[in-house]
Amino acid sequence: MRREHPIAVLGPEAEGVGGGGAAAGAVAVAHPNIALIKYWGKRDERLVLPVSDSLSMTLDVFPTTTGVRLKAGAGPDEVTFNGVSASGEALRRITGFLDLVRERAGRDARAVVETRNTVPTGAGLASSASGFAALAVAAATAYGLRWEPRELSRLARRGSGSASRSLFGGFVQWHSAAEAATVEEADAASYAEPVAAAAGLDPALVVAVVNAGPKEVSSRAAMRQTVATSPLFGPWAASSGEDLTAMRAALVRGDLEAVGEIAERNALGMHATMLAARPAVRYLSPATVTVLDRVLQLRRAGVAAYATMDAGPNVKVLCRRADAARVADALGAVVGASSVVVAGPGPGARLLDGGDS
Ligand code: DP6
Repeated sequence: MRREHPIAVLGPEAEGVGGGGAAAGAVAVAHPNIALIKYWGKRDERLVLPVSDSLSMTLDVFPTTTGVRLKAGAGPDEVTFNGVSASGEALRRITGFLDLVRERAGRDARAVVETRNTVPTGAGLASSASGFAALAVAAATAYGLRWEPRELSRLARRGSGSASRSLFGGFVQWHSAAEAATVEEADAASYAEPVAAAAGLDPALVVAVVNAGPKEVSSRAAMRQTVATSPLFGPWAASSGEDLTAMRAALVRGDLEAVGEIAERNALGMHATMLAARPAVRYLSPATVTVLDRVLQLRRAGVAAYATMDAGPNVKVLCRRADAARVADALGAVVGASSVVVAGPGPGARLLDGGDS
């Protein structure tokens, strides 16, 4: 089993702008994760408590790097994505997240946040997962909170649920804590942690980018609508719990076929809940279905390849690393070779620089 302690403070602890010995700035990097058992539906919107547990693989591609520097003077938080100033809802989400950190740190200083994303933002390729995981690590450090990865996972969750999983490398489970007696207990118990997988599994996720543009409906809005109106949501959430138990056993056995079968049915089930929402939410495009057909053909040709899709038309195909080139060729014939990326299991979030530079 792979266990990591990903958060290491590498830089010297600097005198914070507000005093108190906290670092004045920090830079962190995090990778996206792709859920094999999906998170779809919240039971508490404010605390971002999910209806059911989810399980993902952190990728070794598309890292997000985020720097947080505390401002000495007055004025609002300043946020840039790839050098472009954030405004509107994107800015509000970051500022709201920083407010949580400030509250916990007991500090008022505003911050300058600079994010570099290497994944297309908002295209269902998990940019919010890597983004809020990197922000959680950088912001907590900049504000002087020396937290363990589990606490940072809880914090990242408040930014975007799936970000709780990007704190850790490899295969990761996010606990819903649905059995907790009170909302406070659930808040404390809803974090992610690595799960065991056989060393011989050696998986790859081949990403076929069908459309890199931002989606029309955010996953946040779509899952709210699904929970509120889809008659299929309850049954899917219940079966997802069974899928998760079966997947954990398959990971320990190193049974890639079972992992893939469970992941594919769980994802298709999630999309079925959306299609049954009123009005329907449909992320899958004709090109998505063409890729799914290609995956089926690969299986018929004896290649263990299984598809999963998130809140967008792009397809991620789980296979053995030894088969990844063949799978990439097959998907490249549909979407173009330049739109295919092969990913392996990646590392957890980590601090690059905890100094004041
Ligand atoms: C389909 O984590 O983006 O990718 O918590 O509202 O920010 P919020 O949602 P988000 O949802 C991800 C949904 C998913 C499935 C998954 O990653 O588990």
